[in-house]
Amino acid sequence: MPADASVIPLSPVGRPTARVDGPLKVSGAARYSSDFHFPGMLYAVPVGARVAHGTIASIDTATAAAMPGVRKIYTRENIGRFYRVSKSSGAMIDENRPPFEDDRIYYYGQYVALVVADTFEQATAAAHRVAVSYADRQAPDVDGRLSGSEPQKVDTQRGDAAAAFAGAPVKIDETYVTPTETHNPIELHASVALWDGTRFTLYETSQAVMNQRASLAQMLGVPVENVQVITEFLGSGFGGKLWVWPHSLLAAAAARDLGLPVKLVVTRPMMFHNVGHRPRTQQRIRLGATREGKLVSLQHDYLFHRARIGDYKENCGEATGFLYSTPNLRAAWAPALRDIPVATAMRGPGAVPGLFALESAMDELALALKMDPVQLRLLNEPGIDESENIPFSSRHLKECLTTGAERFGWARRNPAIGAMREGDHILGWGVAACTWIAERFPAEVSVMFNSDGSVRVASGTQDIGTGTYTVIAQMASQLTGVDLSRIRVVLGDTHLPPGPISGGSMVTGSMVPAMAQAIEQATEHLLAAASEDHAHFGGTAAAQLAFTQGFVHRRDQPPGSGHRFEDVLASARVGHVEGRGKSEGTFGSKAKKAYSTHSYGAHFVEVAWQPQIARLRVSRVVSVIDAGKIINPLTGRNQIEGAIAMGVGMALFEETHYDPRNGMAANGNLADYVMTTHADAPTMDVVFLDYPDTKLNQMGARGIGEIGLAGFAAATASAVHHATGIRVRELPIRIEDLLASKVA
Ligand code: MOS
Repeated sequence: MPADASVIPLSPVGRPTARVDGPLKVSGAARYSSDFHFPGMLYAVPVGARVAHGTIASIDTATAAAMPGVRKIYTRENIGRFYRVSKSSGAMIDENRPPFEDDRIYYYGQYVALVVADTFEQATAAAHRVAVSYADRQAPDVDGRLSGSEPQKVDTQRGDAAAAFAGAPVKIDETYVTPTETHNPIELHASVALWDGTRFTLYETSQAVMNQRASLAQMLGVPVENVQVITEFLGSGFGGKLWVWPHSLLAAAAARDLGLPVKLVVTRPMMFHNVGHRPRTQQRIRLGATREGKLVSLQHDYLFHRARIGDYKENCGEATGFLYSTPNLRAAWAPALRDIPVATAMRGPGAVPGLFALESAMDELALALKMDPVQLRLLNEPGIDESENIPFSSRHLKECLTTGAERFGWARRNPAIGAMREGDHILGWGVAACTWIAERFPAEVSVMFNSDGSVRVASGTQDIGTGTYTVIAQMASQLTGVDLSRIRVVLGDTHLPPGPISGGSMVTGSMVPAMAQAIEQATEHLLAAASEDHAHFGGTAAAQLAFTQGFVHRRDQPPGSGHRFEDVLASARVGHVEGRGKSEGTFGSKAKKAYSTHSYGAHFVEVAWQPQIARLRVSRVVSVIDAGKIINPLTGRNQIEGAIAMGVGMALFEETHYDPRNGMAANGNLADYVMTTHADAPTMDVVFLDYPDTKLNQMGARGIGEIGLAGFAAATASAVHHATGIRVRELPIRIEDLLASKVA
């Protein structure tokens, strides 16, 4: 049953709560990494290669070194030693080749030198005058047609998909392409590095401070204790800020060498080369079905481009194995090596491009069957996860589809192409299902009850703009009974207990068990202190005491009676009590899972096509999301709305073009890389089903960030087909694609 937004629950969890860090952000008091300034701080600007494939022959730094304010110019000759991250350490990195490791150039923009100067402007000017010459230059291979390699590596398979496809009465065999996309968080990547002779303090733009510390310590060759990484606030990341990129290492090395703080802010054009991207994919989907619409075979063969260094896999088959019921299935892949920068996770990695292909193909199958696309999906709903042969922990995809259909008005859909008009607009309606993993990362947390009446919750996770400060405060308020206004959440510092990475939409769910345990332990200490507080409890044994609604009282007295916890602590002369909680992760666990844990949803998309002026807009969206218990409907809805905006961009606008002459991201700036603006944003109706998934954690919370992007482009492409009769299988959907439409 959808949550009724007009009913505001009394409990902190589930209540639409404005961001606790909102005032800091709107007043400018929130410090982002590049906001940190220190006396004597210097500015570093990297020099990027102007070829994509070759060798450095020489670097002439003489002119640049003589320019005003320049302190030092680093190349491979003088940067010192960097090391690689050892895979067995568990630290994650996508570009494991340290900067300046050798003279080879693997991609355009690869850092080849670093200028450090008194000001950013001086460093930038001098960086332009560093003269690099190259040998063995080759025309880069940036070919977007990813043919050549046969997908051999199997994600999942069952039955005999090829034979079942051959014998199927109804078949779809189509290839879908998603382009390179570049993460464009508003906040640029940045590092501010300090070295005190022994220890580094690194202000990083990181979605994962603990991993950043682990990776940088290894790469810099220092013990992990000698590195502190801080990310108090992040201006979004979308996956681009999950792992270490070369600039962090360069800033740290310069700070160590010069003995002064060094700031390095990656420019927007550099962000198109040096901090990851979503790789281009090419996916062949073969569906076989009975005439009644039952899937008998699903084959998903996909290729994605991969840099010459790095081994990132775009896991397009992530959702393929369990989304629909079919006895015969195979998902397999291969990388296609290109002279392009290193790819990384971007919001909903794998599933997002994967579901564009799979859900587009499902729409094409519905058309071939002359069946409603909602009906087709309902008909192929599985009872269990057929790839793992285990039950789902909590799956309400059918209800997402039926609820969405009702709110959208799907029953009024005339399936004929171009048949739905509104003034001179031709309306197209499309639908797609979506899903995203729901797992937990390991988490540790400290909870302190303070004698000033506050509760401090601390963990080395981070708020990447999604509302984590707020959601953790709400959960702590729920679990302690202390009012939200008195909860202080401290995040984004490796000095804190190790918290989860802000990736995979897993922070909220990961934090629940560790917080519950920490609060339980802190409560034990509080009650022990209370039993020693003779003024209030006169030596009553701790076992006879309880802590509810912020009050300590005898168990035989009602909740909320007794004394405020801070009065008890003060009277016992205890400054604070602290509890620690620790929970294991489920993600990547080798143990056989008892349940298949995922979130689900359905997007219903309306496009408005005006053939007279060749104008296409996404006009209206209903998204129904089954993401477990919703801790905060306000920040939760905000996540889905943001994902829908990003989905409009994926469907209609976003694509990074590599220039075949030099391998440069030719549209690597915010003017030429087109993204959704406010004017492009459709009317959005976001509905959460709000079924707690207590198999994942005791609050039943799953993640919300990424699922909103999954499936969205497929629903849009299907809506465009409904309006125009043109099936676009290569994103983004361009006006040029639609000019052949016979609908007028
Ligand atoms: Mo997300 S791509 O795990 O930041």
